[in-house]
Amino acid sequence: MKNFITQKNSFLVKLSQKKKKTIIILSFFITQIRLKYFFKLKKVGKLVKIFTGFRVFHGANNITVGNNVNLVDALLSAGDNNGSIEIQDYVFFGHRVMLLARKHDYNETLQNRQDDISEAPILIKKGAWIGSGAIILGGITIGENAVVGAGSIVTKNVADNAVVAGNPAKLIKYINQD
Ligand SMILES: CC(C)(COP(=O)(O)OP(=O)(O)OC[C@H]1O[C@@H](n2cnc3c(N)ncnc32)[C@H](O)[C@@H]1OP(=O)(O)O)[C@@H](O)C(=O)NCCC(=O)NCCS
Repeated sequence: MKNFITQKNSFLVKLSQKKKKTIIILSFFITQIRLKYFFKLKKVGKLVKIFTGFRVFHGANNITVGNNVNLVDALLSAGDNNGSIEIQDYVFFGHRVMLLARKHDYNETLQNRQDDISEAPILIKKGAWIGSGAIILGGITIGENAVVGAGSIVTKNVADNAVVAGNPAKLIKYINQD
């Protein structure tokens, strides 16, 4: 898959230089890729956008993605047992977002610390916007229409329509729905 996107990208770059159009316009072709042809994700909706750098590290078969979702170059690590990632419709990410559903047991040492892993589900509800560089940890739910600021590390659940930011992410406001 990585090769496919890379090749496709370089083709688009060349094409864009030739025709003096922007890569943004040409990346439209990539945005039409339906991931299910390339990854073993559990479920993938329509019009799911990815870009070079997108990676599934663990547990592709525990990941579901809705319709009209933009994952850009995210890293998704769902885990193989209790971990899962659900990304609902109209969710979109900035660059280099990481969803990390797994953690190591720091009470262990050496090889046991590496091997002893626990996992918890991540749920990103409909329409949420996850800013560039954000990290979302296992067990977290991001509410519907919520916003996670760039560079945030989300360690607690985020309410519907909340805007959170920082490390650790804190509520900065609610979106006015009037
Ligand atoms: C979260 C965000 C949307 C908030 O925008 P906003 O409503 O205009 O926020 P404001 O500029 O009014 O900031 C409100 C407060 O939150 C803080 N803040 C805003 N974004 C922050 C962030 N990413 N990390 C930490 N603090 C942040 C501000 O410093 C400010 O703090 P203060 O009240 O102590 O001065 C925006 O800051 C952001 O992070 N955008 C993501 C950009 C991105 O990832 N783009 C990629 C394209 S998808």
